[in-house]
Amino acid sequence: MGAAREPIDLLVVGSSELATARGRSPRAGAELGRIEVLPRGAVAIDAGRIVAVGPEPELVAGFSARRTLDARGGTVVPGFVDAHTHPVFAGTRETEFEQRTRGATYLEIARAGGGILASVSGVRAATEEELLARLLERLARFLELGTTTIEAKSGYGLSLADELKSLRVIARANGMQPVECVATCLGAHDVPPEFRGRRADYVALLCDELLPQVAEQRLAEYCDVFTEAHTFDLDDSRRLLTRARGLGLGLRLHADQLSALGGAELAAELGAASADHLEHVTERGIEALGRAGVVPVLCPIVPLYLRQEREAPARRMIDAGLAPALSTDFNPGSCYGQSLPEVLTWAALRYRMSAAECLTAATLNAACSLGRGAELGTLEPGKRADLVVLDQPNHLHLCYELGRNAVRAVVARGRVVLERSGP
Ligand code: NIG
Ligand code: FE
Repeated sequence: MGAAREPIDLLVVGSSELATARGRSPRAGAELGRIEVLPRGAVAIDAGRIVAVGPEPELVAGFSARRTLDARGGTVVPGFVDAHTHPVFAGTRETEFEQRTRGATYLEIARAGGGILASVSGVRAATEEELLARLLERLARFLELGTTTIEAKSGYGLSLADELKSLRVIARANGMQPVECVATCLGAHDVPPEFRGRRADYVALLCDELLPQVAEQRLAEYCDVFTEAHTFDLDDSRRLLTRARGLGLGLRLHADQLSALGGAELAAELGAASADHLEHVTERGIEALGRAGVVPVLCPIVPLYLRQEREAPARRMIDAGLAPALSTDFNPGSCYGQSLPEVLTWAALRYRMSAAECLTAATLNAACSLGRGAELGTLEPGKRADLVVLDQPNHLHLCYELGRNAVRAVVARGRVVLERSGP
């Protein structure tokens, strides 16, 4: 007789392989694609945490589980972490998509009153309960697609009351369902209509009222700014972000998305957690991000969606030793889609990233950009037990397969929160 088997809550067995990055800090450069692939890998889980990861026979011999989850020949990966989303909005903007397919540009549509400001009207008109209901539907969809953590921005309220309302909705949703939302205040998404021509006054409102209240009420961990010539220039952005940092908020930037304004350099100067988009980042910007250890959060679907030719120089960034994350940028304007696996396919095709690089970027590196590298993003003992079982024979299928939701089961905080009985 061997030693008594250790009692645990859950054992995940029956995989074809288990694929995961390792560690608690961002994986950069050549390390980005160094993942661990365990044939027939199993996971032992107790009290919401991973206790062990290893070959199935070893774990079956070592643990006696109250519940077993059979992966039925699928691939087990960490829960996906989406490091850039704008999920608090009311209406949709499908007519803008049509306009773009007929040749209109994002900026033309924005100047004609569409774009962000169209969504602002929707959020202002919606009650907190209505916004919460919409957000909960979207979080359920994220979970179905294997995403267990998102960064969630406000940014369609653009008034004190409506930004606070948006952030309260995110806080409430956190306690109501399994997907963790890391809140970001994006009051500096655009200048609202009532401040047109008075940008400095709006920046002052954000610095003097909104950000202090957000920090005081602990409604966000991060502050983001849409740093662009037509929204907030480098001086505005520096002022806003310096204020946010002084209030204890972490920093993220929409940087160099539509033009090479120098958002990446500013992110580096201020020690931001992430610089996002970066389609127009310069060589100097890349160097600055590397020196400062800022995570570039790339959104490969957005330029496709906006029919913008310029894409982020992802391969160049990886070669320069950066540690990118991949995200949907889910929002009603520039990416009405919530699927990280779909993002990974595009990252492979457009950025020439390997499946292993994509997996690390959408798990560990994304988690690190949210200050959760020690807690999330890999399947290793001690980390929170967030994982996905894919109806796919190996992790290469993550990029290879197009259009089907291959998620078979999701475990969040050690609980099986989604299980599909089908194929
Ligand atoms: O990340 N760039 C700014 N914000 C969003 C677009 C938001 C919108 O169009 O509603 C983005 O692409
Ligand atoms: Fe965005």
